[in-house]
Amino acid sequence: MRHGRFEESISTLLRDYGESISFDWRLYRHDIRGSVAHARALLKAGFLTQAEFSSIEQGLNAIGEEIAAGKFEFSVDLEDIHMNIEKELTNRIGDAGAKLHTARSRNDQVATDLRLYLRDEITALQSGVRTLQAALVGLASANEEVLIPGYTHLQRAQPVPLAHHLLAYVEMLNRDHGRLGDVALRMDELPLGSGALAASTLFLDREAIAKELGFSRVTQNSLDGVSDRDFALELLSALAIAGMHLSRLSEDVVLWTTTEFGFARLSDRHSTGSSLMPQKKNPDIAELTRGKTGRLYGNLFRLLTVLKGLPMAYNRDLQEDKEAVFDSVDTARMALAVTAEMMAALVINQEAATKAASDPSLLATDLADELVRKNVPFRTAHDLVGKLAAESSKTGIPIDQLPVEVIREHCPQLLDEWKAIFDPIRSLKARAAIGAPSPANVSARLAHWKKLLS
Ligand code: ARG
Repeated sequence: MRHGRFEESISTLLRDYGESISFDWRLYRHDIRGSVAHARALLKAGFLTQAEFSSIEQGLNAIGEEIAAGKFEFSVDLEDIHMNIEKELTNRIGDAGAKLHTARSRNDQVATDLRLYLRDEITALQSGVRTLQAALVGLASANEEVLIPGYTHLQRAQPVPLAHHLLAYVEMLNRDHGRLGDVALRMDELPLGSGALAASTLFLDREAIAKELGFSRVTQNSLDGVSDRDFALELLSALAIAGMHLSRLSEDVVLWTTTEFGFARLSDRHSTGSSLMPQKKNPDIAELTRGKTGRLYGNLFRLLTVLKGLPMAYNRDLQEDKEAVFDSVDTARMALAVTAEMMAALVINQEAATKAASDPSLLATDLADELVRKNVPFRTAHDLVGKLAAESSKTGIPIDQLPVEVIREHCPQLLDEWKAIFDPIRSLKARAAIGAPSPANVSARLAHWKKLLS
């Protein structure tokens, strides 16, 4: 790369500062795929003979196998994966190798490699999402009858089926799955052929390359082709949102496994101990996911910041895209897998959950609804029931057991059905609108997810 223009070799400091081979080596498979497709276009355009093309193809594949087997020695002096592969190819096959970079720049090459790489990663991430959804559906299904208190402001609010709570995460994860799919759709454009910035005087059939590499379209502006990293940002954004979902689920697990809540127990395989306190069983697994969400947010901001001041077109700053993307992809993939395992092995304490959910005060709103059925305006009903709740909390008598005189005084209309109203199952059965937590709805939604995930 330097032979023509430079007289001195590069400063060792700059070499170490600028190298990317230590992390971009993992693009090797995609780099080779892209190079073979590019070489085929060079062959069709008459810039390579059939023999040259074949030796390039074979040479690249042999290098690929050696890298996969861990037998290839990368050199920092060659900066990145693209130069490492090209130089080795030329060492092995001579002039044909030296023709590979015809009508190509590392700028359009790396933009292509990254898209090819992320396309595969997105598929893997989507399947990680599906696995976690399946674990949640499995847990929900095994505990379909279990109720827990639903919370607002982390104060007990109304009883809900545990399955409804878990299925809320399944819905969120489904949006994550969709977002990843959207990224893949918009990313589905081939930048190769954009050259360094202004394409090439040597004409190649970009659409044929796109077809070979499985892209539906080619980019329409060469400057944009080499400088666009929107697709990476979109992926980092989708992963930041998915991480936020995993973090919220983790927080629920942390709460549920406390002595105070006691709704669930982590399996031994997914718990950690304390180096000091022999009795401890800690939810580090969930805390790590909550903590690692910081990386997913950080990587999004890292790349947004790298991009914000860049003049058109390629700038070396863009090399900073890869570690952010790799770290988020790795972190999200692991977090999804670990969370799926943890949730599949989570043990629900049905008794504790049911006990907490049968607190009669959680059905205060149902009392108000009953009064509405008797034609009392809701605001008046809310007031009346509020007074009863205050009375219950003042006297320590549970609301369902308040003395008859008190009930008669505040809401005589409900005297007969008073006790029956405090049955959480009755309450849930009445919550039958679309999306509401009636047992029949939850069952149907479970069936829906089971079918979709099978
Ligand atoms: N390693 C570089 C990157 O990741 C490849 C492109 C280098 N291009 C250049 N003009 N220096 O972006």
